Amino acid sequence: MVIADHPITAKAHTNIALVKYWGKLNDQLIIPQNDSLSITLDKFYTQTAVQFLPELAADDVIFDGQVLSDDASLRVRTFLNHVRELAGFDYHARVITKNFVPTSAGLASSASGFAALAGAASRAAGLALNQRDLSRLARRGSGSATRSIFGGFVAWQQGHDDATSFAYPIDERPAWDIAVVVLVLTVKQKKVSSRVGMRLAVETSPFYSAWVTASQADFKTVKTAIQNQDFEALGHTSEQNAMRMHALTLSSDPNFTYFNADSIKAMQLVKDLRLQGIVCYFTMDAGPNVKIICQGADAKQIAQHFQAVFGKDQVLITRPGAGISISD
Ligand code: PMV
Repeated sequence: MVIADHPITAKAHTNIALVKYWGKLNDQLIIPQNDSLSITLDKFYTQTAVQFLPELAADDVIFDGQVLSDDASLRVRTFLNHVRELAGFDYHARVITKNFVPTSAGLASSASGFAALAGAASRAAGLALNQRDLSRLARRGSGSATRSIFGGFVAWQQGHDDATSFAYPIDERPAWDIAVVVLVLTVKQKKVSSRVGMRLAVETSPFYSAWVTASQADFKTVKTAIQNQDFEALGHTSEQNAMRMHALTLSSDPNFTYFNADSIKAMQLVKDLRLQGIVCYFTMDAGPNVKIICQGADAKQIAQHFQAVFGKDQVLITRPGAGISISD
């Protein structure tokens, strides 16, 4: 194991879950309560360079050109501690990270962020991890980052401990033409973090165990739909799964929601489009932005429809993206 003598750069794309992770079995190791499944997106990614240097007195984290305060860099530094422990040294690191997300999009994601950090930091530390072990490492930063190691359709196997909870590719380069139209409805930071929201759901929602049972079934349905290229089964089940997740926020104590008025309007418009014969489905994560899953041939028409309502710059067409790449 040799510590790299130059910065190592990794690029990872963000992903959108079709079957979501919403709750942990183990908070420290980030072992989820159910299997999840996502599409890696081509338009949004993070690029991160890491070098471990003996002369540094502390970790130096620069995010989009700004040096992060100790508070803001805590998650990154905790993650680096884990990498140092695995590598068996205690040098500090210089981390330079950039988010390639349209500036107003507000879609900055811990998924691409921790996947890129895992790739760059592990290689910089001289750890030669395979993709599976890289996904296990990324998991320690953020659950959804587990899946951003791979491209295309990706599953995160729940597992029961650190060794068995990892991502694997289902279809890295999907042959069918699928797109995700992203509606950027707000750029504001979410009020309830996914970490807090999940914990509330596990501890207080009376529907939590039903969520786990339904998600395990949704996982099988969506996986089979991908294998059969059955778009309607994939879209319908993804939409149902998203609403089941959001039912957990509404049924938590205290209750809360990630929807805003525009999210509800957008979801209704997706249903109206379906009635007109355009096959598309919505999903939402821990924020008010709505993502529309559709077939590539319909993406432009759907995007134009939503641009007329929410504005031209608020709508982006994305396609399945690549897995992580790491420079030497
Ligand atoms: O990885 P986290 O802690 O940001 O949680 C992600 C949660 C969802 O995006 C809502 C669902 C998912 O599976 O990505």
